[in-house]
Amino acid sequence: MNLILFGPPGVGKGTQGEKLAAEAGIAHLAMGDILRAAVRNGTDAGLKAKVFMEAGKLVPDEVVVAMIEDRIAEDESKGFLLDGFPRNVAQAVALDEMLAKHGLSVDHTVFMDAPEKNLLDRLCGRLICKACGFGFHRQYSPPQNSGLCDRCGGELYQREDDREEVIAHRLEVYREQTEPLLGYYQDKDGFSKLDASGEMAAVYTALKQVVKIQHG
Ligand code: AP5
Repeated sequence: MNLILFGPPGVGKGTQGEKLAAEAGIAHLAMGDILRAAVRNGTDAGLKAKVFMEAGKLVPDEVVVAMIEDRIAEDESKGFLLDGFPRNVAQAVALDEMLAKHGLSVDHTVFMDAPEKNLLDRLCGRLICKACGFGFHRQYSPPQNSGLCDRCGGELYQREDDREEVIAHRLEVYREQTEPLLGYYQDKDGFSKLDASGEMAAVYTALKQVVKIQHG
């Protein structure tokens, strides 16, 4: 199974995508995580991406398209969930070309949405583990031991781009460049809209219904 999750910053793509990919036994290809790993490792792509990410701008298409194509090629036999790619219409066109080249198709494209107050609340309270990348929220999914990851004991931090002024810019970029993807996908087979304003478990149940994974 191949899936795309798209929607605004903080809507829960990473939270739900990781869980769903694990349950479905497919790869979770989160563009933001792939880029942050490249920045940490100081690769050429990471060096190019860093300045855009810190400012809350989109990294140039040619950089992200090349990176995601490598990862899709690695995981094509397993199936994959794309989270954060594509993020504009040019990337969606590049993805379609890439999939056709590899003889692949997408089974479900899910647009997750929630009111802006939820997005701000979620992004401002997000904490991430430095070691394993697992996400928490100060209020909605707090760690058992303050400042430490429940999974691996790593130190938790707030993402540089989760500061209020950068969040505002990310939301603007989203409205201008990513929201138009709705027009690109909404008439295609396998497209669904998902209200992601509820609590995490309810959103996950609704997502599984949309992609037709059995409840277990
Ligand atoms: P990226 O890391 O992809 O950031 P994003 O799209 O802005 O999305 P987020 O990770 O902020 O939010 P999310 O929807 O995954 O929410 P999460 O599940 O964590 O991209 C970062 C940057 O990389 C971009 O700004 C850009 O520079 C660059 N980039 C990435 N992809 C690119 C591309 N294709 N092209 C060009 N540049 C690209 O949830 C957020 C918080 O809310 C968490 O704390 C979570 O615990 C909590 N939460 C989740 N769901 C709920 C719920 N239902 N109720 C309460 N709390 C919840």
